[in-house]
Amino acid sequence: MTKVLEVTGLEGGYGTVQILNGIDLHVDEGEFITIIGPNGCGKSTFLKVLFGLATHQAGVVLHNNIDVSGWRTDRLVGLGVAYVPQVDNVFPSLSVRENLEMGGVWLPSKELATRIKRSCAMFPELEPRMNDLAATLSGGERQMVAISRALVSNPKFLLLDEPTAALSPKYQQQILANIDGLRDQGISVLVVEQNARLSLARSDRGYIFSNGKVVHTGNAQSILNDPKIGEYFLGLHE
Ligand SMILES: Nc1ncnc2c1ncn2[C@@H]1O[C@H](COP(=O)(O)OP(=O)(O)OP(=O)(O)O)[C@@H](O)[C@H]1O
Ligand SMILES: [Mg+2]
Repeated sequence: MTKVLEVTGLEGGYGTVQILNGIDLHVDEGEFITIIGPNGCGKSTFLKVLFGLATHQAGVVLHNNIDVSGWRTDRLVGLGVAYVPQVDNVFPSLSVRENLEMGGVWLPSKELATRIKRSCAMFPELEPRMNDLAATLSGGERQMVAISRALVSNPKFLLLDEPTAALSPKYQQQILANIDGLRDQGISVLVVEQNARLSLARSDRGYIFSNGKVVHTGNAQSILNDPKIGEYFLGLHE
């Protein structure tokens, strides 16, 4: 099985500030993987290091056996990696179409238009909103724009940071179903989710982070069924 991502002993953070204390994690081709863990444990930092937006301090990151440790974002995009941030993931003062165009500014205009059409196909709600400012969109619609924009670069591997945060239950289900569906297009997915149950239900495997480390990993179903994990991480008592 080809490993889209293989991370070994990753340490990283912001400049000399260390947040990640030795992460081991992998994503096989076609997998949907969910990372969960308490606030502030380094989930977002991990995705940022993988996308060249936070500091890689030690350890090895392989994409399809290519050592990309410490690579810059533009080189990672060239390899087929895309990222949807947790916050501020649309430009409010630009239209929906302009936001989507940002996902492939380097492309010839005809190719860009084709890709935007294809990237939005799974979110028909966006079609009538193309000329509206992103500022006028609901939270769910903004998330759709952010995901579609990431898809414009034709990724093979998509990193998503809490794509359903602050969305209504209806949107949470729809967004996760659409992300799950990306696997049919050959896109492997690594998601950080606070809606752990919903996301694990669609995942192959899961990782639980705490204090910048992986404290548990396994089959998604076994994580969902583990009462001890449920008690601490899945909000069984909420
Ligand atoms: N730009 C930054 N510079 C320095 N420290 C930062 C920066 N961004 C985040 N941190 C710190 O890194 C630690 C991990 O934060 P991170 O955002 O990765 O956590 P998280 O697991 O994604 O949390 P949440 O569930 O709240 O999104 C926190 O202590 C945070 O204060
Ligand atoms: Mg976060």
